[in-house]
Amino acid sequence: MDFILRPWRREDVDDVLRYANNEEIACNLRDVFPHPYIRTDAETFIGSCIAADEEKQLFRAIEVDGRAVGSIALCLGSDVYRMTAELGYWLAEEYWGKGIMTEAVKQICWEGYDRWEDLVRIYAEPFDYNAGSRRVLEKAGFQLEGILRRSVCKRGRVYDSCMYSLLYEEMDPYERALHPHRAQ
Ligand SMILES: CC(C)(COP(=O)(O)OP(=O)(O)OC[C@H]1O[C@@H](n2cnc3c(N)ncnc32)[C@H](O)[C@@H]1OP(=O)(O)O)[C@@H](O)C(=O)NCCC(=O)NCCS
Repeated sequence: MDFILRPWRREDVDDVLRYANNEEIACNLRDVFPHPYIRTDAETFIGSCIAADEEKQLFRAIEVDGRAVGSIALCLGSDVYRMTAELGYWLAEEYWGKGIMTEAVKQICWEGYDRWEDLVRIYAEPFDYNAGSRRVLEKAGFQLEGILRRSVCKRGRVYDSCMYSLLYEEMDPYERALHPHRAQ
C-alpha cells in the first residue's frame, strides 16, 4: 500500500487522536504511550516531534491518503552510545498487514544512515510477545541479538524483550551503492 514518511504537522492532532487511542497498540509500547490516549497526549507528542533537533532525532508521520496513520522515529544515543540509534514505531490498526511498516522501517533506516554519517547501528527492542513487530524487523534485515530476560514490566506483568539490530554494513549492498557519500 502506498504511503509517505514526512515531518509531523500541528494539523495531525485529530488523526493521532483517532488512531493512537487503541489498547492493541498501547500494549506493545512503553507506558509513555498512554491508554486511553487523549487530545493533550496527541498535542504534546506532535509538539515534541516538531521541536526535535534533527541532528539527534527523526520523527516521521506515516501518511496514507492524506492522513497521518502512524509514527516512526529514530533517536540517536548519547555518550558512548552516540553512534547508535533506537527505532520505534506504531501504525493504525486498520492498516496492519499491508507491508507498510516493513517498508517504513527500511526507509527511515536509510534516512538515518544518510543523515548521520557516524551512525553504525540501529536497534529496536520489541516485547517478546510482539510477533508482528519482530517479523517487521526480520523482514527489514534486522538480526535478533538476544533476549533480555524479564526486562519489561507491562500492565503489571513481567515479560522478556528482544534486542534486534541492523548495522550499516548489513544494509543491502545494492542500496548502499546508491548512497556513495557514506564510507562503504
Ligand atoms: C507491529 C506493527 C508496526 C506492524 O505493522 P504492519 O504494517 O502491519 O507490518 P507489515 O505488514 O510490514 O508486516 C507484519 C508482518 O508480521 C506478521 N504478523 C503480524 N501479526 C503476527 C502474529 N501475531 N504472529 C506472527 N506474525 C505476525 C504479518 O503476517 C507480516 O509478516 P508477513 O509479511 O511475512 O506475512 C503494527 O502491528 C503495530 O503498530 N503494532 C502496535 C505497535 C507496535 O507493536 N509497535 C512496535 C513496538 S516494538
